[in-house]
Amino acid sequence: MTANDPAPPAPTAPADFESLLAEARAIAERAFTPYSRFRVGAAALAEDGRLLRGCNVENAGYGVTLCAECGLISDLIAGGGGKLHRFVCVGGDESLARDERGVVMPCGRCRQLLSEHAGADLVILTPEGPRTMAEVLPQAFGPSDLAR
Ligand code: THU
Repeated sequence: MTANDPAPPAPTAPADFESLLAEARAIAERAFTPYSRFRVGAAALAEDGRLLRGCNVENAGYGVTLCAECGLISDLIAGGGGKLHRFVCVGGDESLARDERGVVMPCGRCRQLLSEHAGADLVILTPEGPRTMAEVLPQAFGPSDLAR
């Protein structure tokens, strides 16, 4: 590949998410989960090609727990902002081997969090295959609703 070659196509099929899945599984190993023992890792590509990651960070005040997506969005903003282009998260009990963690859906709150930073072409890999943001959070509340 030379400098003039076009960038490789971004993943849109499950098989094309392999590198993001590997990143998500790797970061899940760093999750802080002494209470649920359920490790989650999230990985995404920003529209500018940056790799973003996050893992869940639990707290003795259970409700204070940070989902993996919170860390990933913090990574996006702290790294200069931008929009999400591809996203996947994996989860599973700490007893599982790293590569046994399967794709999980973001919780409802985190779908809202992702929605705020979703690029127009965001594809989310779900347990049922690739989906758009609108498919996983129909009729999302967003910034335009604040103008009502
Ligand atoms: N969790 C996430 O990190 N992301 C989600 O979208 C769902 C849930 C975490 C929170 C908690 O540490 C553990 O999974 C069990 O709920």
